[in-house]
Amino acid sequence: MLDLVLIVFVAVLGLPWLSYGESVMKYGAVGDGISDDTSALQKAWDSACNGSSKIGSVYVPAGKVFLLKSLHFTGPCKLKPLIFTIDGEMKAQSDPNKWQKGENGIIPWLIFERVEGLVLSGRGLLDGQGKGWWDIHCRDHPGPNCIWLAPTMMTFSNCRNVILKSLRFRNSAQSHILVMGSQNVHIKDVKIKSPEISPNTDGVHITSSSDVSITHSDFATGDDCVSIGDQVHNLSVTFVNCGPGHGVSVGSLGRGGTEVEVEDIRVAHVNFTGTTNGARIKTWPGGTGYVRGIEFFDIRFSNVQNPIIIDQFYGCAPNCVQTEKAVHIEKVKYMKMSGTSRTEVAMKLECSGKNACSNVFMRDIDLSPANGIGSVSSTCSFVQGSTQGTIRPSSCIQ
Ligand SMILES: *[C@@H]1O[C@H](CO)[C@@H](O)[C@H](O)[C@H]1NC(C)=O
Ligand SMILES: *[C@@H]1O[C@H](CO)[C@@H](O)[C@H](O)[C@H]1NC(C)=O
Ligand SMILES: *[C@@H]1O[C@H](CO)[C@@H](O)[C@H](O)[C@H]1NC(C)=O
Repeated sequence: MLDLVLIVFVAVLGLPWLSYGESVMKYGAVGDGISDDTSALQKAWDSACNGSSKIGSVYVPAGKVFLLKSLHFTGPCKLKPLIFTIDGEMKAQSDPNKWQKGENGIIPWLIFERVEGLVLSGRGLLDGQGKGWWDIHCRDHPGPNCIWLAPTMMTFSNCRNVILKSLRFRNSAQSHILVMGSQNVHIKDVKIKSPEISPNTDGVHITSSSDVSITHSDFATGDDCVSIGDQVHNLSVTFVNCGPGHGVSVGSLGRGGTEVEVEDIRVAHVNFTGTTNGARIKTWPGGTGYVRGIEFFDIRFSNVQNPIIIDQFYGCAPNCVQTEKAVHIEKVKYMKMSGTSRTEVAMKLECSGKNACSNVFMRDIDLSPANGIGSVSSTCSFVQGSTQGTIRPSSCIQ
């Protein structure tokens, strides 16, 4: 509990005097953008994690650029919380040949593992320099030497009580932020920016985690702004701008017949601008388990391809065969959503005949055609639920 109180205290007031004391320069970092500062930062972390002061801190000073390869910020630490302040710029090594493969081929850039109590903030910039990776990605450059997996910019693995605040992220080789196996992670005031054409550059991907919040943040990416994987409970995404990007996606889930448990997701006060999807839930045929208690509230769409979409046939087109199983989608609320659709089907709820979507509720929906589109409509299959207020285009929920 003490560490939580401290975290809140530090998050509100900041502790610059502490941070400056533990500058990475003390550990031999150069900060000229050319020298490799990986080992200096690693030493700074190890000492902060298990040093002799009362509160561990790492400080990355402003006005400098640190060129870095993989860093493992591993706990548990003796000291908590850890105060990690980034005011300068951290740049990932841009040449894929200079990276070593990690476990299962997965390469983290900055990974926090088993850390309990972390405040990560500052005015700094993290630059993934991902272009070298995008240029060999199999999606756009198929061939014998293409790659599917590239470094994730920042990973929280098996962490608890984390605050990530006010940093800017750009051009990740793959996902910008990955939260896995973690509890009580709060992301606030971050800005994430990568080109629309960059492959798999999710803003935040969350999996096997609970009590996570993302708020007051802006995402412009080549993939989902926020993507929600399996075993996620109690996540809120609020006051977010998304676009360009693929929207806020629950899924894809249930691939290869896996059992899914996703519950209590709230997405509110979100603007989608020029995205391919808005509020999206996608599952693979053949999965089991549930996605339930999903709420979308106060959402604005501007020129979005699929503003509201449930797709229980993800990944199987064009040859979808009806399997015996489907992930059960239930208790989904869509409320106070308005704006323009770039395609005619503004609301598309395609559920499986083997396991219909149930308890779907809509209230006050007002979608109109974007420039160049004649009219909008809705399509449903196997959707049970109810509506209140005005629903435009008219609802097809039964
Ligand atoms: C810090 O100390 C803890 C507990 O003694 C230990 O488990 C951990 O491996 C140490 N971490 C580092 C980075 O030295
Ligand atoms: C859900 O997570 C929030 C933090 O984002 C926490 O304050 C709240 O207590 C959690 N709710 C439940 C029911 O655990
Ligand atoms: C969303 O757009 C509206 C209208 O432009 C704006 O008032 C609101 O602040 C935006 N939301 C966020 C989270 O920036």
